[in-house]
Amino acid sequence: MTTTPAHPPFRVLLSRDQILRRTHELARQIQADAGDGPLCLVVVIEGARTFARQLQKLLPGHLPLHEVRASSYGSGTVSSGRVQLTLGKDLPVRGRDVLLLEDIVDTGRTIAALREHFLGEGAHSVRTATLLSKPSRRVVPLELEYVGFEIPDEFVLGFGMDLDGRYRELPDVVVYEQDVERTFQRQASAR
Ligand code: IMP
Repeated sequence: MTTTPAHPPFRVLLSRDQILRRTHELARQIQADAGDGPLCLVVVIEGARTFARQLQKLLPGHLPLHEVRASSYGSGTVSSGRVQLTLGKDLPVRGRDVLLLEDIVDTGRTIAALREHFLGEGAHSVRTATLLSKPSRRVVPLELEYVGFEIPDEFVLGFGMDLDGRYRELPDVVVYEQDVERTFQRQASAR
């Protein structure tokens, strides 16, 4: 398995073991709250796939993972403020209890847009399980039912989360210290 580089610009914020332990706890809570019918699991790709697969393994019934693509980020690390949803055609949500699986809730716009969409489609309920949340970044007030970890306002990577497609495979959640990387690059090019 890939290991997280033990040098800048990476700083491990949450180890894979911590994440897996917390995911077990979340799965237990989700199961305890579940109604009679099977949950409709909707994973926000790409970033939440790793977290979603872990949860899927821990929930009974091997529920299918339905995918939705939500893009509010272009290239880089600043939210554009718009959320574009791309959904599969056969997503059966009418009367169902939908559980949105997200890697990280930042401004809250993505989850707010998804909630509105699925409630509009007739879902019985829409809840959210997110591995990470940055409460200080919230623009849209939200209630998040299942939160793995609250983290400060820092850009993170790994455990499925990427920066322009890079670093998704890192096993841990790491803070990506861009200023450190830029300083390194400047020093390297000055040599
Ligand atoms: P929101 O709509 O602002 O809540 O944005 C949520 C989405 O932004 C997440 O699904 C991620 O794709 C992305 N995002 C926000 N913060 C980070 C981060 O620190 N690392 C990687 N992706 C992030």
